[in-house]
Amino acid sequence: MTHLAQKKIILGITGGIAAYKSAELTRRLKEQGADVRVVMTPGAKEFITPLTFQALSGNPVSDSLLDRDAEAAMGHIELARWADLILVAPASADFLARLSHGFANDLLSTLCLATSAPIAVAPAMNQLMWKNKATQANCHTLKQRGILLLGPNSGDQACGETGLGRMMEPDQLVSATASLLRNNDPQAGPLHGKKVVITAGPTREALDPIRFISNHSSGKMGFALARAALAAGAQTIIIAGPVYQETPNGAERINTVTAKGMYRASLEHAPSADIFIATAAVADYRPLQIAGQKIKKSAKQISIELTRNPDIIAAVAALPEKPFTVGFAAETNDLINYAKGKLQNKKLDLIVANDVARSDIGFNSDQNAVTVISADKHQNLAQANKDQIAEQLIKIIASAL
Ligand code: PMT
Repeated sequence: MTHLAQKKIILGITGGIAAYKSAELTRRLKEQGADVRVVMTPGAKEFITPLTFQALSGNPVSDSLLDRDAEAAMGHIELARWADLILVAPASADFLARLSHGFANDLLSTLCLATSAPIAVAPAMNQLMWKNKATQANCHTLKQRGILLLGPNSGDQACGETGLGRMMEPDQLVSATASLLRNNDPQAGPLHGKKVVITAGPTREALDPIRFISNHSSGKMGFALARAALAAGAQTIIIAGPVYQETPNGAERINTVTAKGMYRASLEHAPSADIFIATAAVADYRPLQIAGQKIKKSAKQISIELTRNPDIIAAVAALPEKPFTVGFAAETNDLINYAKGKLQNKKLDLIVANDVARSDIGFNSDQNAVTVISADKHQNLAQANKDQIAEQLIKIIASAL
């Protein structure tokens, strides 16, 4: 019995020669006990007939957004709600572009907009179309939104070329779909029933109406942790400084600008949280006075007096019923000692030491490498992308809890 048993899957098929493999995919999903409803785009029907999928899935095939009979049987919103997962295989370059731009000009793209179920796409196209910057940018956007990209594989293509762009094989898609459903099953996650609050990104401290003091934090580490916490089944709140990160599906986002704003939001949500993770690079100081007008370039030298900002994580760790509190320590030298000092001074349960002197990890990079420090042990997490580091951190936090 896999995680596919009794799962309701919309299998979206778009126009591409790999559509013939989706017949086999339908059969395999059914074998695993899934209830499959096939939705075809007009392009898909040029390659394979709806009748094939109706016979294999045992369900009527949907192919039109504006079909009165189909809407009377199961309307598009109902279908979007019905699904535990939408799997689009093959996903053509055109479909990926429409999905990334939020189009709703056929039934399948509308379902993708109207669902709260996870979405996975299996791209299939000519290798140059796959490599094209437009396709890559669309895929990047989709990934940032939490849509899972399965493949493509590399190999010989129907057009006679060789390279990346082949749709994943049905067996591979079945096992990837099963693990996606397992990861998204909140009852199965180690943080099911827990509330996690995460701070992310920089803060900005105004000097005058147009200038501010800030730092290079992109929010990538914090948002990766939010995705990992959601995948572990947690109710997840992300308190973000000014960053350009997509909010993961299912997370609540609170936007803040200044350290004081982030402090207020954190102190509002942390008392009811089980876990508080502070990845934010909070400005330690802010200008004592914010000039009412733009500061003019007249004097040769000016001085700006700064005053201390509140320490958010120390305030959370001092709550009478404090959540499990995890800090990050960004250091350019003597990393472990400074990190241990912050663990003790701020009374944290864990601290994640981050060497920010390196340009390949830490601030604004897609990768990180950290040391997790608690009162009694150290654990090094080798360099990996921030999603992988976040997954490992969430596992460590869940077991420490
Ligand atoms: O956002 P990215 O580009 O992905 O980069 C990630 C990161 C490098 C910012 C992140 O991994 C990291 O190391 N974050 C901590 C940055 C930092 O400000 O460290 P710190 O050593 O100054 O602060 C220690 C801890 O206290 C941190 O958890 C910080 O969020 C917290 N703090 C600091 C000051 C303050 N006023 N309030 C706080 O809560």
